[in-house]
Amino acid sequence: MTSAPAIRLTGVTKSFGDAVAVNPLDLEIGTNEFFSILGPSGCGKTTLMRMIAGFETPTDGVIELDGAPVQDVPVRKRDLNMLFQSYALFPHLTVFDNVAFELRSHRVAKAELHTRVTEALELVRLGHLGDRKPSELSGGQRQRVALARAVVGRPAVVLLDEPLGALDLQLRKEMQIELKRMQREVGITFIYVTHDQEEALTMSDRIAVMSAGSVLQVGTPRDIYEHPASRFVAGFIGSCNVFDAVATVGQAAVPGLGPVPATLIGDIPDGTPIGVAIRPERIRITAGAEPGALAGTITEMVYTGDVWRFGVDLGGAAHVVVAVPAVDLDSTLTALSAGSPAWVSWRAEHARGLAA
Ligand SMILES: Nc1ncnc2c1ncn2[C@@H]1O[C@H](COP(=O)(O)OP(=O)(O)OP(=O)(O)O)[C@@H](O)[C@H]1O
Ligand SMILES: [Mg+2]
Repeated sequence: MTSAPAIRLTGVTKSFGDAVAVNPLDLEIGTNEFFSILGPSGCGKTTLMRMIAGFETPTDGVIELDGAPVQDVPVRKRDLNMLFQSYALFPHLTVFDNVAFELRSHRVAKAELHTRVTEALELVRLGHLGDRKPSELSGGQRQRVALARAVVGRPAVVLLDEPLGALDLQLRKEMQIELKRMQREVGITFIYVTHDQEEALTMSDRIAVMSAGSVLQVGTPRDIYEHPASRFVAGFIGSCNVFDAVATVGQAAVPGLGPVPATLIGDIPDGTPIGVAIRPERIRITAGAEPGALAGTITEMVYTGDVWRFGVDLGGAAHVVVAVPAVDLDSTLTALSAGSPAWVSWRAEHARGLAA
């Protein structure tokens, strides 16, 4: 017998009056999966999470948790917990009691309650601040209390809406590792909303990219990064060059420049406007002419520590950024400056011609 996915959405939509927040959506999230939702502000991420948690009723469609439809199951009967984007702690309770609140309402025995709250506070590195009140904490510490509260009951599913948003980079990285460890050890299905693509790429088993109420692509971090299915996904995840071209006899041709190496994705009729998407790290740049390379002009050079970024105009609408790791940089490249000629090349398999 194959077990049901932790969460299944079938034809789920949500409108607020005339405004559609989520278009018809099918999605399956596996048990113990770390599933992230990425997308620009207002694309429907929170609305989607709130429907799964039960705070919003879908306008249409079916949501199942562990194989059972939940439209008639109230929030508190669903085996899940949600950490809201704008969460609130009880101001009159200590940190410990804030985290213990839900366990108390479920009448968990005192000794077990103590163990679990302590564990949850250790997890978020607040074991020493259990006696403080929320008003005596920093914003990042408050956020970690909310995080401890979301996982302390060990629900099957935890929905986290931007849970690390208020933390500084160092703590954010530490919490990413801790969260991932906890998710593996405790076996919780995580649905995770973040604006931070790097966070999504490093933490997730799979990622859904949303735009304007629709899920555009679902896949592993590697799928999404290396095989974006649309211009939007290519441009949204990581830095990616996307320039305009036209499908011409199965190739990508840039007006004013001519054919460039690319693989057209899907069945794209001749004459269709396309975007050619290529990652900066997939482009080779040289100061001298090379057979098959495209000639261009350097527009800028930016030093970012571990890589150098070269902006190169290729003519027509084609402008690319090329990333060169410091270790590959030679004196012919460092001698370049804005206005210098340079040659770039890439393999057709690394450049995706995308019609959508
Ligand atoms: N209760 C509501 N009434 C009317 N419109 C709403 C309501 N809640 C959300 N919306 C609208 O639905 C759309 C999706 O909102 P949602 O909060 O899901 O976006 P989001 O992806 O979470 O954005 P952000 O990244 O800014 O948190 C937005 O256009 C928003 O204005
Ligand atoms: Mg939101």
